[in-house]
Amino acid sequence: MEKIKILFVCLGNICRSPLAHAVFEHKVNERGLSDKFEIESCGTGSWHVGELPDPRMRKEAQKHGINMTHLGRTLQVMDLEYFDWILPMDRSNMGVLLTKALPEFKDKIKLFRHFDPESTDDFAEVPDPYYGGDEGFRLVYDIVDRTCDNLLDKLSK
Ligand code: 4NP
Repeated sequence: MEKIKILFVCLGNICRSPLAHAVFEHKVNERGLSDKFEIESCGTGSWHVGELPDPRMRKEAQKHGINMTHLGRTLQVMDLEYFDWILPMDRSNMGVLLTKALPEFKDKIKLFRHFDPESTDDFAEVPDPYYGGDEGFRLVYDIVDRTCDNLLDKLSK
């Protein structure tokens, strides 16, 4: 069977999307589903290409037993064709994706928090923690953790 290919997208690809990438991968492995998914993340910006995730995000993930090893990569136009699910962390990055995607690929693009079981807002975002303190990184972790659980429940049915 063909793998389900998922791309998580944020701005810098050093905080939110590599966290979603690592957390989702961890849950997929825990459930023994690693042969069913291909998981990747990227940024719409290119400042952090080749870099490990932000140390503050890595530290928060590590508290939950998750090791973040992804190296920053920027969005390639081909990604919009290749991946089955393209999940931006906020509306601004969603806008970038929708601008670049051919009409036939736009349906694959959904806000990540569309799958947040606690969200009542159709346009909820994962807040950018980059310019804030540790609390922002904890909040991002909580949102990403529960959203990845629900996303995996939905896609593994
Ligand atoms: P991310 O956070 O999009 O969640 O990776 C950011 C990382 C870097 C920058 C902005 C947001 N930056 O401006 O360099």
